[in-house]
Amino acid sequence: MFVALDCSMWRLLAGFVLLLCAADATPVGGRTVPDFGKMYHVKGELTLPYSGDGIKESFEVWYDLEGNRSRIDYHNSTVRTFLIGDDFDYGAIYQITPVTTDTEIQAIKYFQLNGTKEDPIRPQAALPDLQGFEFEKMEDYAGVQCEVWKKFTQAGHKKNTYRLWVTRPEGNDSPAIPYHYEMMGFNTLLESHNDKYMIDYSDFSPRTESDIFTPPGDMTYKEFPDPPEERQILANPLQDYIHTSPVSHAHRLFGPFKEKFERQYESEKEHEERESYFVHTLRLVHSVNRAGLTYSLGINDFADRSEAEWARMTGGFIPD
Ligand SMILES: *[C@@H]1O[C@H](CO)[C@@H](O)[C@H](O)[C@H]1NC(C)=O
Ligand SMILES: *[C@@H]1O[C@H](CO)[C@@H](O)[C@H](O)[C@H]1NC(C)=O
Ligand SMILES: *[C@@H]1O[C@H](CO)[C@@H](O)[C@H](O)[C@H]1NC(C)=O
Repeated sequence: MFVALDCSMWRLLAGFVLLLCAADATPVGGRTVPDFGKMYHVKGELTLPYSGDGIKESFEVWYDLEGNRSRIDYHNSTVRTFLIGDDFDYGAIYQITPVTTDTEIQAIKYFQLNGTKEDPIRPQAALPDLQGFEFEKMEDYAGVQCEVWKKFTQAGHKKNTYRLWVTRPEGNDSPAIPYHYEMMGFNTLLESHNDKYMIDYSDFSPRTESDIFTPPGDMTYKEFPDPPEERQILANPLQDYIHTSPVSHAHRLFGPFKEKFERQYESEKEHEERESYFVHTLRLVHSVNRAGLTYSLGINDFADRSEAEWARMTGGFIPD
């Protein structure tokens, strides 16, 4: 009887037992869930195949869980983001980024987002939390024999499958090395695969240098631009791609969008379709703006349209 209790039942019995459950690497099919350790450095390339003509974005992450901090750079450090859990009461995010507006081109800006009691700032991982993932199969990825770990989630009509390709060079208990991560989203109402993104990892190392976590001082860091509900994405862009939650920050912005542009869709099906286009547009807009180009994009009245609709309406230009 006692051995049949799982973690959630233990939780009811005694709080401290949960710690044991969570800390133990639980063997799945004879394999322990891959562990990347509490400190690492890794490079990645994010691919968004459904945004525009397909977007690729390179980033680099330094992660230090015990130091309560992480840093994420985009585009060879053109955009630098520091997430410091120990600053002020609930942590803070600092971002140094070029910004193009109506009046300035590629002006370097210093932004800050303070954590709150409800949303404290935590170091952002570059790799998904593998609790809840299951071993699926062995498979070659780019010529490397990998373990494939899989997780499935469902919320409403959205069925998401997450897969991570990893190796363990020195056996089951040694630190894992990530190679590839993939999310495939299927919508049951639309009966189509309408979402996908991938991350290719490289240069993984279980070490970081401590001096790279200090944001430049002597600067005045200002609040991230409006609207406030978009700040979470601006301040921590990687979060939506690493978390395995079917409803992302991008999805949550669809509500404010519908309100602002007074959208009323004819059916639930159209709603799902429009939401999907909106999410791909939002990712495109943020990704392009992070590239620090001489122009910037914004979310406008066209954000819930498909590529084909855009092309018809604008003769091929992305409207601004
Ligand atoms: C990245 O930045 C470093 C230092 O600023 C520079 O030496 C290097 O050439 C850059 N690499 C690319 C691919 O732009
Ligand atoms: C990390 O920072 C968060 C947010 O400020 C805080 O709640 C938490 O206690 C810190 N954790 C550690 C291990 O210091
Ligand atoms: C963050 O909090 C600090 C300390 O309370 C404060 O000085 C700073 O102005 C805040 N910054 C932003 C952008 O909210």
